[in-house]
Amino acid sequence: MTLQIIIGTQWGDEGKGRFVDLLSADADYVARFSGGDNAGHTIRIEDKIYKLHLIPSGIIYPNTIGIMGNGMVINPEVLLREIEELRQGGIAVTPDRLKVSYMAHMITPAHRLMDKAKEIKLGNAKLGTTGRGIGPAYSDKARRVGLVYKDILNAELFEEKLRTLLAEKNEFFEKIYGIEPLDVESVVEEFLGYARTLAPYVADISEVLRTALLSGKKVIAEGAQGALLDTDYGTYPYVTSSSCMASNALLGLGIGIPKDFDIVGIAKVFQTRVGEGPFPTELFDRSAGLLRGDGSQQWDEFGTTTGRPRRVGWLDGVLLKKIVEMNNISRLALTKLDVLSGFDEVKICVEYAKPSEISPLVLDNPVEPVYRTFKGWKQDIMQITQWDDLPAEAKEYVSFIQEFIGVPVKWISVGPERNQIIING
Ligand code: GDP
Ligand code: IMO
Ligand code: MG
Repeated sequence: MTLQIIIGTQWGDEGKGRFVDLLSADADYVARFSGGDNAGHTIRIEDKIYKLHLIPSGIIYPNTIGIMGNGMVINPEVLLREIEELRQGGIAVTPDRLKVSYMAHMITPAHRLMDKAKEIKLGNAKLGTTGRGIGPAYSDKARRVGLVYKDILNAELFEEKLRTLLAEKNEFFEKIYGIEPLDVESVVEEFLGYARTLAPYVADISEVLRTALLSGKKVIAEGAQGALLDTDYGTYPYVTSSSCMASNALLGLGIGIPKDFDIVGIAKVFQTRVGEGPFPTELFDRSAGLLRGDGSQQWDEFGTTTGRPRRVGWLDGVLLKKIVEMNNISRLALTKLDVLSGFDEVKICVEYAKPSEISPLVLDNPVEPVYRTFKGWKQDIMQITQWDDLPAEAKEYVSFIQEFIGVPVKWISVGPERNQIIING
């Protein structure tokens, strides 16, 4: 197996960063294929915490090469900040260790402002975006007016394209949104600086990965967001603007369908969501507070990117099963089993009483979850590393997930640190 695709199976924040880090130990390349700095991936190695928004989570190991795919939208300011933060944390991210696709799209302050202005204009109908300019950057890609990273290799052309883009956006800001336009000169000066610094990172990542796969290197394709936020099959319009499905790993990295691959789905043992949109198993009672935490723990459910409290609920087995099937996921990794310790009982949604006739993914009308209830467990399980040492109730809960979803649960994480992991079988 040389290509391992890792995706989130819910509404993001499943613990992908934590798992990409874990599975990168023997990887040669770790490649992000979609999204931008709307993502927030947390990695904890002993007392060190890394919060990555753009750079692939496998970068923490000294021998991996990070790849940022053509499927991404990249804000150069955020990328340079992240490179600097990693450098300060002792991780040198030089152009031989990080390669940016020449066809990745660029996020500018105009995209961020547009994102915010659109949300304000939507009022109560807002999507609850991260405000990072993601939607406007992908719109510009589809409209064929976006800036791509190969543009920065020709300063004159880049400046011209940037000025055209800013002029168009400023017209929108003034005429449609009635807000202050951006100062074109300062953005141009800033971006010409970024262009000079980032030029050495620009590469033909499709060719890099093709050669790597041909020579038997291990490549991890790192998903961002989660399948239920997928722009085609997620809870549209409450989705992000890119595809978060496993199949987009190929397109977003410019590689063909490989002979040999493995698709790993990351699922939290309960459900969370930031932003607006349907959430059949959402909880508002005392259990919600226990699942979310009060913010005193690093892993409590407050957004890595925006700090917003995440909405929480019981695991939605109906949605998880559908996502596993659609993505041809071969193995599951479950995260945050430790957070369920202390509950008298825990639940999994196994059916909808009023399902959509088209697909379980159609959630436009209330669907009324039907739950299976399990006895909870009281022990702290955060130091457990062997399946046999888990409380019987926890084993029953996980075994049910495996049976219900129909694929092996290969990994169970019981804490945020790299080694708080149970490898099953
Ligand atoms: P991602 O976006 O999918 O990479 O996930 P985030 O990093 O946004 O959110 C996951 C949070 O849960 C982070 O704070 C992780 O450190 C933490 N985390 C991951 N796995 C576990 C686990 O098994 N137990 C606990 N308590 N925290 C975890
Ligand atoms: P990671 O990779 C959780 C959500 C936003 C909003 C919707 C659209 O950390 O799992 P956008 O800014 O993308 O236009 O917002 O998508 N969203 C995420 N939620 N985790 C993420 O990434 C997310 N990326 C986007 O909250 O509801
Ligand atoms: Mg996250």
